[in-house]
Amino acid sequence: MVQFDNARQLVAKLAPERPVLCRRPHLAHRAASFFKERFPGHVFYAVKANPAPWLLEALHQGGIDHFDAASLTEIKLVRAHAPGATIGFMHPVKAEAAILEAYQEHGVRIFSLDSLSELAKFERVLPDARDLTLCVRLQVGSDLAKISLGSKFGAGEDTDAELLQQVRARAERLGVCFHVGSQAMSPVAFKGALDRAARAVRRAGVILDVLDVGGGFPAVYPGMEPPSLERYFAEIERCFETFPSAANAELWCEPGRALSADAESVIVKVMGRRGDSLFINDGAYGALYDAAHLGWRYPAQNLSRGGEEQTFGLYGPTCDDADQMRGPFFLPVDTQEGDYIEFGTLGAYGRSMVTGFNGYGSYLEAGLTDEPFSSLYHTGAEQKMAAEEMTR
Ligand SMILES: Cc1ncc(COP(=O)(O)O)c(C=O)c1O
Repeated sequence: MVQFDNARQLVAKLAPERPVLCRRPHLAHRAASFFKERFPGHVFYAVKANPAPWLLEALHQGGIDHFDAASLTEIKLVRAHAPGATIGFMHPVKAEAAILEAYQEHGVRIFSLDSLSELAKFERVLPDARDLTLCVRLQVGSDLAKISLGSKFGAGEDTDAELLQQVRARAERLGVCFHVGSQAMSPVAFKGALDRAARAVRRAGVILDVLDVGGGFPAVYPGMEPPSLERYFAEIERCFETFPSAANAELWCEPGRALSADAESVIVKVMGRRGDSLFINDGAYGALYDAAHLGWRYPAQNLSRGGEEQTFGLYGPTCDDADQMRGPFFLPVDTQEGDYIEFGTLGAYGRSMVTGFNGYGSYLEAGLTDEPFSSLYHTGAEQKMAAEEMTR
């Protein structure tokens, strides 16, 4: 893997014609250590956010030894790149064949589910398994998050009590899990979900072994400056202390974005300019998927020139009208064809969304050793300030 100090050095040396995914293992390691040290429970990395083998290895080296997989493919990736790790198969709707293979061939014992029909699949394919941890996914609101995950999965208040009781009767360990939505902008999102989960557990009258608060932990993007992660952890810990669960119950979380966002960026080349629009060689069907489809604004810097800035909209390389990132992105007024632009904080849901549409989707890869554009992970003085903020 070629390595550079920063993106400017990279373009000076390589003048790349293809977009470049820039990996920063030191930042993945930093995020992993932060969660490991400060989250008061087990941390499962949600592989879907970024399944790159180098990232799985960096997180594993940083202390992450639990992984949340959504498919057999992700399970196999984790087995290959984080040997010995504990894996949860946390997609609530699974094929029976996938449940069986995960259990028999890959040693998976943790699964989530959200309906009696899913529970029946376990009865059919694993009738004798007495070592299952089954987590009932509850439907919770996504109001305080930028991306909703509240409508597709999760048992509602009309079905959750019976499901909890039936899973309790079947599983070695019973858990509840939920997802407050991705990029939750306030710790209150977790309080709301935990209150709702506590009501469900009380109504069902079951004893809980695992409380899994899911993902949703944020990263910093332009226009999105969440509170410190310590505040999220403190809120969750406070709720866990009074949660109706067994004395030895475990607390889990499943961060995807927060563990991966800082660790990758993409460098693109400007192929053309028309007024305030730039045509670049990555876009809606590549690593800038969320910039196009969700209007996400990643931090951007022109690597070829500086000076006074203006706002630009961007077009990606395919022939599709939807291949457009409206931004606005602030870049130098004289940005032109041939310039290179780096988009940062692209480690989460960037690489993982890439397609081969129109023949694009092929990237160079390089390692960089610099610091992120902005981050929730602090060192030295900032760490002290965050600690002070917590005690205020
Ligand atoms: C079950 C589950 N856990 C965890 C995550 C990771 O969420 P985030 O990247 O917001 O932390 C997701 C994201 O879709 C998910 O579906």
